[in-house]
Amino acid sequence: MASTLKYLLYGLVALAGSANAAPACTPADAGARTFEAEDATLGGTTVDTAQAGFTGKGYVTGFDEATDKVTFTVTSDTSKLYDLSIRVAAIYGDKRTSVVLNGGATSEVAFPAGTTWTTVAAGQVLLNAGSNTIDLVSNWGWYLIDSITIAPSASRPAHQINTALVNTAADANAKALYTYLRSIYGKKILSGQQELVYANWIAQQTGKTPAVVAVDLMDYSPSRVERGTVGTAVEEAIQHHEKGGIISVLWHWNAPTGLYDTEEHKWWSGFYTDATDFDVAAALSSTTNANYTLLIRDIDAIAVQLKRLQDAGVPVLWRPLHEAEGGWFWWGAKGAEPAKKLWGILYDRLTNYHKLNNLVWVWNSLQTTWYPGDATVDILSADVYAKGNGPMSTEYNTLIDLGKDKKMIAAAEVGAAPLPDQLQAYEAHWLWFVVWGDSFINNAEWNSPENLKKIYTSDYVLTLDEIQGWRNA
Ligand SMILES: *[C@@H]1O[C@H](CO)[C@@H](O)[C@H](O)[C@H]1NC(C)=O
Repeated sequence: MASTLKYLLYGLVALAGSANAAPACTPADAGARTFEAEDATLGGTTVDTAQAGFTGKGYVTGFDEATDKVTFTVTSDTSKLYDLSIRVAAIYGDKRTSVVLNGGATSEVAFPAGTTWTTVAAGQVLLNAGSNTIDLVSNWGWYLIDSITIAPSASRPAHQINTALVNTAADANAKALYTYLRSIYGKKILSGQQELVYANWIAQQTGKTPAVVAVDLMDYSPSRVERGTVGTAVEEAIQHHEKGGIISVLWHWNAPTGLYDTEEHKWWSGFYTDATDFDVAAALSSTTNANYTLLIRDIDAIAVQLKRLQDAGVPVLWRPLHEAEGGWFWWGAKGAEPAKKLWGILYDRLTNYHKLNNLVWVWNSLQTTWYPGDATVDILSADVYAKGNGPMSTEYNTLIDLGKDKKMIAAAEVGAAPLPDQLQAYEAHWLWFVVWGDSFINNAEWNSPENLKKIYTSDYVLTLDEIQGWRNA
């Protein structure tokens, strides 16, 4: 779970027809269409011409109040998915805008700092047949908008997923899991829940049990065990496994040492950057310093727990060092290089030293600069906290690019479970979703009872009863 709510905020968009439907003739909306900002409807913004190189008669500026915006009205012959791009000059530094579709579905788009005009890909919008509005709302503000362009999205080409796990010694259970996952990818999504107790809660609410249960090895971290924690994640994982379920494991790795343990930053929040002065870059600078030794001690302690799962025949969707790129956890606090190095050490130690062959390695950052490389990653994933039960297509498409469509992609942690009609319209082929536990799954602001029911009873969403026998797939 992240310390901040981030990324996209989707509302519900009425879906009138299939996004794949071929147009009957050559409709007016077939090609790319550009809309000049100065011709759009302004809300608290103004037209200017001082920054040379704009198209049309000018551009829109003055995004300084939170509500300042420019509203484009665009039509579509049918309900259809479009690629959106924005011509912008972020002359005051890195900025962000909020793209609001028809007054509801909202996504955030980053504008990289630059001295001149540039065109930024802004994800996809599912337009209704007829008239639609696209608002660019201030967000960080202080940028210049020249125009937007929309073009019908090409339908997604066939995925090219690798046939084997990266660990050539992977055991039969891990291989069977991977084979099963490949067989459903792009066709269905596995439902999932963080913590067994909330999986049981979903069963009460919807009559369906999640296919995937995710557990956290946090309380096996040595700096917590020293303070009296007793982990139960392994037992919970085995319970779900014995019912035919699939297990995902993450690890809020409490820093090995250097916990502040103050009123403000308790020892049990020691995975947060702001709760420890543990310096991962310094620790990794030599293999002989004391803190390197502590990192290995911790990895070895976690290996014991993963080994218990291996011995019980449980293959694991293993997602350590999650959200590294966010920087709010100590393993990401010193930038990409130490995080990638630590990933490599973890992979090597668990695979080659501890001979853990039940692990499917799940990477969990979006950016290319943070990616540890194809050789140690089986599956890509994102953590997305955005209300509205949307398809999170921006993150999905970013990960398609990162993995060149050779790695499957999972929504490893979400605040809001995605609605299946949205997933299909956007062709956002997430392999599974796992909703975070307390205050997310059981909070109607994030997941209303109606939406949970709709999701858990959808044909597109696989639940525990529907995946029985996956080992023999
Ligand atoms: C190890 O990390 C702790 C906590 O940040 C720090 O106080 C200590 O100086 C480090 N030790 C070494 C040998 O760098």
